[in-house]
Amino acid sequence: MSTNPSQTSSGAGTQRIGVPRETFPLEKRVATVPDVVEKLIKLGFSVSVQAGAGDAANCSDEAYRAAGAQVLPDAAAIWASCDIIFKVRPPTAEEVAQMREGQVLIDFIWPAQNPELMQQLAAKKVTVLAIDSLPRTLSRAQKMDALTSMAGVSGYRAVIEAANAFGRYFNGQITAAGKVQPAKVFIAGAGVAGLSAIGTAASLGAIVRANDTRAEVADQVTSLGGEFVKVDYEEEGSGGGGYAKVMSEGFQAAQRQMYAQQAKEVDIIITTALIPGKPAPKLITAEMVQSMKPGSVIVDMAAEQGGNCELTVPGEAVVRHDVTIVGYTDLASRLAKQSSTLYATNLLRLTEELCKAKDGVALVNMEDDAIRGLTVVKNGEITWPAPPLAQVAKPAAKPAEAPVVQKKSGHGHGASGPLPAKTLAIIFAVAALAFWFIGAYAPAAFLGHFTVFVLACFIGYMVVWNVTPALHTPLMSVTNAISSIIAIGALVQIAPPETAGTGRPDELIRWLAFAAVVLTAVNMFGGFAVTRRMLAMFQK
Ligand code: NAI
Repeated sequence: MSTNPSQTSSGAGTQRIGVPRETFPLEKRVATVPDVVEKLIKLGFSVSVQAGAGDAANCSDEAYRAAGAQVLPDAAAIWASCDIIFKVRPPTAEEVAQMREGQVLIDFIWPAQNPELMQQLAAKKVTVLAIDSLPRTLSRAQKMDALTSMAGVSGYRAVIEAANAFGRYFNGQITAAGKVQPAKVFIAGAGVAGLSAIGTAASLGAIVRANDTRAEVADQVTSLGGEFVKVDYEEEGSGGGGYAKVMSEGFQAAQRQMYAQQAKEVDIIITTALIPGKPAPKLITAEMVQSMKPGSVIVDMAAEQGGNCELTVPGEAVVRHDVTIVGYTDLASRLAKQSSTLYATNLLRLTEELCKAKDGVALVNMEDDAIRGLTVVKNGEITWPAPPLAQVAKPAAKPAEAPVVQKKSGHGHGASGPLPAKTLAIIFAVAALAFWFIGAYAPAAFLGHFTVFVLACFIGYMVVWNVTPALHTPLMSVTNAISSIIAIGALVQIAPPETAGTGRPDELIRWLAFAAVVLTAVNMFGGFAVTRRMLAMFQK
């Protein structure tokens, strides 16, 4: 479907994208940024931005103008003159009143929570693409997934808020005045926001633990430097599509027990637990808050859905039982420049999908799974909810006992496997027998070589064993480079008889040795160059 190009205002059959200033109190984000304006113009669109729309996100009117946008003085001019509107927060009744038939709105809408708004939009005969309704399991749609980008920013900001309210360092330090223990951070819920918080807290040097009802996230927690703390109860928590399900009473009781224990031990709790369409599970009770050390901090990211902590006040930071409980509901907006840039990029990717011909006209193709999922109102007809996707990629369920990892603190609930003692004893006995046999019967010349070989294996093993798995690839390239030591053998063969002292090798051997030197040189220099580039990727 075309969004009715006959109604365009920018001439030549192309459409105009409009970005009004956000009106929600304290909202600092803006739906597009100057860098993205340039790219929208390259797609054939013209762009209008309300004066001051980007001020709070450090995007000045001048920057928009320089990028090619028209800056209009007020919101009314934007709503009246643009064919496609980009916004962040759902439109207010006043904003909807300014919409006109055929207009396209791309925005967070939350159709399930806002049935009245949906009716108002439908009555205006507009088309609405709710960015929150994107089918997240479609890998093709990830580039447009604003929920993920906003949750990532919010998880980061939650840690920063926690650090701000916490009176100590996150990392452990040894100072002249004594040893400072690292802060212990517990993250409840390891979805997008939780994983972002785990990575951020770990990078600040804290000991990070996390729990989620979905066992499949355990590996992700450990790969980000956290320790997955398992609930001592066997039940799989995946409800499909990457989301959780409501757990049984038995599980919840066991989980409360574990959370109560963590509350006593840790300094900071960040809660992100959410089951879509349900009120936030109450995981942190008032007694748990009371049991925390004085000066501890809780950041409750689920505050808007009622909070994961009983004492959270949505939108505020309060102190209860000497514990600061942060219930801000605008964490993404508190990093306005970052979140606006990511959101603008998500909308750009969506616009590219809508305008494959790059001719400045958006086509809402309902045959496309991603666009179908996003479209909640089409020309005044409510099209939400979209039918389920034909093949929703369900994350592979993991055996419940698998993802238990012990790290850093020595606190843990299991460990992945060293060999059982009996197997080890058998291996040692067989090896000892083999060595005795070789020592007793092998020729003396062989024994010398064999000793060197065994020592080389031992040293190689000891060197490699303690290398973090993440560094195995650079390690391989550097050992590859070191293996070029065979160049020495080749050089000896090239050498003239008087210096080599081994008789003049025939010409063929010298040429082969030359080829060997060239090839090993490539291996050596290439190996070190590749290693250097790989290690650079790990440097911050
Ligand atoms: P998500 O759906 O990716 O993650 C939620 C995680 O909670 C899932 O991994 C789920 O398995 C887990 N979970 C559900 N019930 C649980 C339980 N009983 N115990 C342990 N884990 C449980 O959601 P996302 O995007 O990470 O968002 C997390 C929360 O943060 C949501 O409540 C969201 O609304 C909120 N949020 C808040 C913002 C703010 O400004 N305060 C900004 C962005 C997100």
